[in-house]
This record gives sequence, structure tokens and C-alpha cells, in this order.
Amino acid sequence: MQLLGGGVVAASYPTLIEPRWLKVQRETVALQRVRLPHPVRVLLLSDLHRSNVVPYSMIEAAIDLGLAQKPDLICLTGDFITRGVEVDLAPYSAVLRRLSSAAPTYAVLGNHDGGHWAGARRGFTEHSVMDRILEDSAVHLLHNRSMTAQVRDSRLQFVGVADLWSLETDADRAFSGVDVGSPVILLSHNPDSKEILARRPWDLMLSGHTHGGQVILPLVGPRYAPVADMRFVAGLGEWNSRWIYVTRGVGNVGSVRLRCRPEVNILEVS
Ligand SMILES: [Fe+2]
Repeated sequence: MQLLGGGVVAASYPTLIEPRWLKVQRETVALQRVRLPHPVRVLLLSDLHRSNVVPYSMIEAAIDLGLAQKPDLICLTGDFITRGVEVDLAPYSAVLRRLSSAAPTYAVLGNHDGGHWAGARRGFTEHSVMDRILEDSAVHLLHNRSMTAQVRDSRLQFVGVADLWSLETDADRAFSGVDVGSPVILLSHNPDSKEILARRPWDLMLSGHTHGGQVILPLVGPRYAPVADMRFVAGLGEWNSRWIYVTRGVGNVGSVRLRCRPEVNILEVS
């Protein structure tokens, strides 16, 4: 009987326990091209995937954990939803507004949030619903555009691009007006977009999309990481004298995680 109980717990761990078992993942990023006079604390949340397997309570728990770290700035790198039918505007805006009330918050959209890829998979064919949710929550949506943030004596530029799979990425528009004299943080949902953005002046790219692989099997590695370049599935990596940081994300697809806990990320950028 005891053996049976242990078996049930082991079987339910990847579906019922680990997908909700949030942690804070910390990283220090020393920019290579232009440095900041003092470190700026950035909270990164991604792949919230509000759906029938990711309730608002899970997203609120991630926000609680992130805001407790007292971030200077907040970045959200897409996949707010999994499918269009599962989203309600007002409650989601209220949840996200907690972030923008605490610190300037910048966002880009992911492949699930609407557009070419989502439209072919029972999602939104365009992203006006997510646009409205973010607007109502006072989150700055950087859909092929940039904004500047001032934190004490540090000036940071944020550039956001549309998702690679949405086929809406417009690097010319996104980087127009970017000043190479101060650091540039690029928000791009899919880390594979680095190649088409290789000639642009960015110092640190923040991405999600991979969910860190979601299920990491011994000897096999990540089971779910829909990227071509498997060097950038989770964590900090160097690429052409700049940094790419990929978060394992908050939510999930399919209600499963194994050896890949959901996370909120705190980056000390200098
Ligand atoms: Fe995702």
C-alpha cells in the first residue's frame, strides 16, 4: 500500500507539483559594450500562458515573488496566453497592472499571443486582444519599437520586436531612433531571432519561448524547446560579444514540467 502511495506521488509530481513550484532565479550581467554606472535590477517574467492549466493564482504567485525582489524595471517576453478562447480581458489587465504600478514595465508578444502562427492553431489571427489587455494594464508594448528608461543615473534603452513566428518582425522600425551611446536591452520572445537581429546594436537580449525544455530527461536533455539553436534554451549565454538570457518561464503548455521548475528571473545588469 505504501509502495502504491509512493508511486502515485511520483507519477503526479511532473503534472501537479513541479509546474506550480516557482523559484527565483538570479543572474548578474556585466554588459560588454557600454557599462552602467550602477547595477539596475530587472525582473523578467515570460510565458505566463494563462489557460485552463495556468490559473491566475499561479501568475499572481509569480508576480508576488518577483515584486518582493524590489525590481527597478520589469520585462515581459511574451506568450501571455496559450489560446484566444481562454482569455478574459478585465481580470488579466488587473493582474498585470500590479507590475506596472510597481515599476516601469515593458513587453513583447509571443507566438501564442496572436498572428500568423497562432491563427493557424485555434488562436488569434492578430494581436488586438493582447494589445488591449496590455494597454489597460499600463504595460508598454514594444511591438517593433523602442523606449528609454532612466533609473537613477543609468539610462537604458529597451527595444522590442514582434515574434519571429508571427512574421511581423520589423527590425528597421524597432531600432529606428536607437542611440548607440547607451546600453540597449532587446526583448524578443524567441531567441532564434538573434540571427536576423545580428547587425543591430543590442547588448543583452531577453527571451522566453523555450520554457527551458519543460521536461528534462536524464541523458536525453530537453524534450520541449522549439528552437533551432539548442545552445540557448535556458540561462545566460554569450553570443558575438553580447549576452542572451533565456528564461524557463512561469507557465507551461500541457501541464507538465520535470527537472525544469517555473521561475521568475532577477537580473542585476551593470
Ligand atoms: Fe511559451
